[in-house]
Amino acid sequence: MSRVIAIDGPSGAGKSSVSRIVGKKLGFLHVDSGALYRIMTWQALVRKVDTDNPDEVAAFAPTVEIECRPENGAIAYYVGGEPPGDRIRTPEINAHASQVATVKAVRDKITALLRDMTRFGNLVVEGRDITTAVFPDSPARFYLTASAEARARRRQKEEVEKGIANQSAAAVKASLLARDAIDSTRKYAPLRKADGAIEIDSSDLTLEQVVDIVVEKVNEAFN
Ligand code: DC
Repeated sequence: MSRVIAIDGPSGAGKSSVSRIVGKKLGFLHVDSGALYRIMTWQALVRKVDTDNPDEVAAFAPTVEIECRPENGAIAYYVGGEPPGDRIRTPEINAHASQVATVKAVRDKITALLRDMTRFGNLVVEGRDITTAVFPDSPARFYLTASAEARARRRQKEEVEKGIANQSAAAVKASLLARDAIDSTRKYAPLRKADGAIEIDSSDLTLEQVVDIVVEKVNEAFN
């Protein structure tokens, strides 16, 4: 049976960086579940689906084919044989992704894809509903959080460094809080701290400190 480390938290809490490094250290494949919601959003926009219309999004969801395969310590995604790359990281995708993620048919599809990935081996999976809905029985579950200011600062730096956008810190914070609000109040699998999940506030911690805490707790959980 493969082992799963589950990490949830709001945007910009540091889930991706922490999951990537923890995965490398422990030899677990890194799974970015948010990227799957972003791929669905990207494809919806490409196909001119009205992302504010849940029925339209639900009808479109089964038509998207996403290939998942292990590559360089992570699960890589392909659509039509191509990796989506930074096309799924734009402010436009940010603005529509939370809405697409409210639709049950989208969540069911992605939950099934994530559960199926256990056939590839041990996983560290990050997202919003991994500890509560996708892998609620994992003994290693974490809720990673940070202040809105710290999260917006990190996201803005990332966008500028990657050349994706050049928004003000205030604009990044507003978009992040808008997404948090939709993600935590939606009907299906809202973002919340699972009972029994270990909460880590990373506002005043370095990435290395967070990684050390997670690795220590994972070793306790699986031993
Ligand atoms: O983590 P992210 O910013 O890449 O996530 C993109 C969107 O997908 C965000 O609005 C939350 C949603 N999401 C979700 O609903 N459930 C997950 N497990 C992961 C992401």
